[in-house]
Amino acid sequence: MLNAARCLACSLLLLAPAAGQELRGHGGPVRAVAVSADGRTAMTGSFDQSAILWNMAAGTADAVLRFHQGAVNAVAAIAGLGFATGAEDGRIALWRGNAAEPAQVIEGHKGPVSALAISADGSRLASASWDETVRVASLAGNGEAKVLEGHKGPVNGVAFMPDGNVVSSGYDATLRIWPADAGPARIITLPAPLNGVVVAPDGEIAVAAADGRLRLFGPDGEARGEIVIGETPLIALAISADGTAIAAGGLRGQVALIDRRARSIRATLVGPGLPVWSLAFLPDGRQLLSGGADRLVRRWNAVTGEHVGTVVPRAGEDLLAAFNGERGAQVFRACAACHTLTAADGNRAGPTLHGIFGRRIASAPGYAYSDAFRTMDIVWTKETVAKLFEIGPAAYTPGTKMPEQTIGSAQDRQALVDWLEKVTR
Ligand code: HEC
Repeated sequence: MLNAARCLACSLLLLAPAAGQELRGHGGPVRAVAVSADGRTAMTGSFDQSAILWNMAAGTADAVLRFHQGAVNAVAAIAGLGFATGAEDGRIALWRGNAAEPAQVIEGHKGPVSALAISADGSRLASASWDETVRVASLAGNGEAKVLEGHKGPVNGVAFMPDGNVVSSGYDATLRIWPADAGPARIITLPAPLNGVVVAPDGEIAVAAADGRLRLFGPDGEARGEIVIGETPLIALAISADGTAIAAGGLRGQVALIDRRARSIRATLVGPGLPVWSLAFLPDGRQLLSGGADRLVRRWNAVTGEHVGTVVPRAGEDLLAAFNGERGAQVFRACAACHTLTAADGNRAGPTLHGIFGRRIASAPGYAYSDAFRTMDIVWTKETVAKLFEIGPAAYTPGTKMPEQTIGSAQDRQALVDWLEKVTR
């Protein structure tokens, strides 16, 4: 499983398009996405080892969070706090607002964390891991965790039931329902390895399997039916807050929108950016976010399955429109989620680029740079900025929190810095 999933990631990385004109934030496939209950913020996790906090109204990145030493595989929203991230390094981080450091770190897993879930009352966090366990930590108290053991292989999915029980799904083809207090788990054995699991507000369980089928179960584990989505493994799964709609995405790119009550596929996503690794409904259930191999966060109409667009920053749109047609402005679209061009627009996830040429590295007022950036000795010129994106931030400024990205064409790099010189003065 470990190797299979790794190779899956490699092959998708190879398919990922080179730096294009579209907005993007992550430097690798978007592996996880979650939206806050008020719909104002979202967090994504990526194979590039970072998490990004997005402002949904503005479409901008508020923070790039670098903490994990490995792919960020799972994200969950925690009411009243912010978000939790779980990663390949076995750690879980809790993030408050847009703070650069985690408010709390939960350790204990001995393998990659693959999924996270928060109980309805926000008091407990459940995590699934490839170390074959599920851990349930108390968020209110001292973070003490209960370890649920039994799976005979990586655990890929976890969710809370309305009654407080926990349900998990594993590569060992079992679905396990763990009683909230104690006692043995109910084990349901299925014909194929299992990936994600979600639970509706009425307690119905939906699980995504490697045979391309979505299977439904009652709260006690009684089988209630199955829906064939495709022939390839289902790798992404989400349910709307009211439980009426489920989205399931497969390895070959098919994403189905399912009417849970009718047990039918009501639409299939059509458009760019498929296949996807991660799915999340907005709170009203009318839009769906996806993250995938193309590194973008995309919005979809959750009723018709039509592509709505990328999460495009509003602020800065006028400026970009004013220079419409200029190649440099088009190249800058890859930067616009994180960087503004004027002092008045201030810092976002990245520092403002106002006055960038002639500026020393790490000197924009009021911006919290990484330690790596603060100890470097670079003055930004057209040449050094072009170099930064010729070899990529990881090589030019090792340890930076700016996601890895390169601009392959020398002409594009030149167009970008020529344009930046005009608009950042
Ligand atoms: C997902 C967010 C993100 C994207 C997209 C992004 N950056 Fe950055 N950028 C950052 C962060 C964060 C930093 C600060 C890095 C640090 O402190 O380690 C930064 C730093 C910089 C710096 C150095 C600024 C200084 O004050 O020293 C330059 C120049 C820069 N970015 C240019 C760009 C350009 C040009 C693009 C598009 C090709 C781009 N960035 C895309 C987040 C981003």
